[in-house]
Amino acid sequence: MGLLAGKKGLILNIANDRSIAAHIARNAVNQGATCGFGFLPMDNPEKSERRVRKAMEEFGFGHEWLYPIDVAKDEQIEKFFTAARERFGTIDFLVHSLAFADRAFLQKDPGNFTTTPRNVFAQALDISAYSLIALTRAALSLMPNGGSVIALTYLGGEKVIPGYNVMGVAKAALEAAARYLAFDLGPRKIRVNTISAGPVRTLSAMAVGGIDEMFAHVQRKAPLQRNIDADEVGKTAVYLLSDLSSGVTGENIYVDSGFNTVGL
Ligand SMILES: NC(=O)c1ccc[n+]([C@@H]2O[C@H](COP(=O)([O-])OP(=O)(O)OC[C@H]3O[C@@H](n4cnc5c(N)ncnc54)[C@H](O)[C@@H]3O)[C@@H](O)[C@H]2O)c1
Repeated sequence: MGLLAGKKGLILNIANDRSIAAHIARNAVNQGATCGFGFLPMDNPEKSERRVRKAMEEFGFGHEWLYPIDVAKDEQIEKFFTAARERFGTIDFLVHSLAFADRAFLQKDPGNFTTTPRNVFAQALDISAYSLIALTRAALSLMPNGGSVIALTYLGGEKVIPGYNVMGVAKAALEAAARYLAFDLGPRKIRVNTISAGPVRTLSAMAVGGIDEMFAHVQRKAPLQRNIDADEVGKTAVYLLSDLSSGVTGENIYVDSGFNTVGL
């Protein structure tokens, strides 16, 4: 029997077949979970949906529930969870695997972080960090018997990674938000944890200036002497979403070939 047999959960958001969310989903579905998915409706929502559905089909769960959601819009969050309640009744887990910052301010050029305008900062923090609070709150009524919430973060939230800039500040906020949510929701048997993934070639990662150097750096410096595979994030996600981690909350688990542990 799968580690997630009988569990239902929501995974937000898949952009394409490289998305970490898709790899988490494949592992969750393989372990017996029933999942619903979110996608960001871009300028052409039908086209966005078709692209995401195609990625889901490639991963073998093309038939599962998929619904649009822009986390910057309260009314879309409400619509998403109303629809999820109609479809699933209750859920056991929520996966937050989404982020955004204006790529013009994710550059390695000297001074690039210092020039971050107020609106760029606010948008990055709103979409990438506040959304965890908003989504978890919206999910509460679907989790009457407790549950597990996870969010994806990166080392750039703790240490300076040149080019990560405003997204690093957003990840620091996301990680702190996860700890405060874990404390608030512990009495309701809801656990909240983060996974700090090493660099993975996804649409979002490619927006970060100098990302290619990071892949080479990880390979040279990390104890495992290689970069991670998104599937490895999926496997750790299964652990955090399953009862195997029933005593774990407010934690950050690194899936980064051990890169964060090395000083030199
Ligand atoms: N790829 C990496 O190297 C890496 C490393 C560590 C952490 N992460 C984190 O993993 C998570 C998933 O990113 P990914 O690398 O799979 O890239 P991705 O581009 O596949 O996923 C990012 C997702 O965020 C969604 N998104 C952006 N703005 C949104 C909004 N307003 N409303 C709803 N959704 C929105 C996009 O539609 C997309 O589905 C992010 O939190 C990212 O910071 C990525």
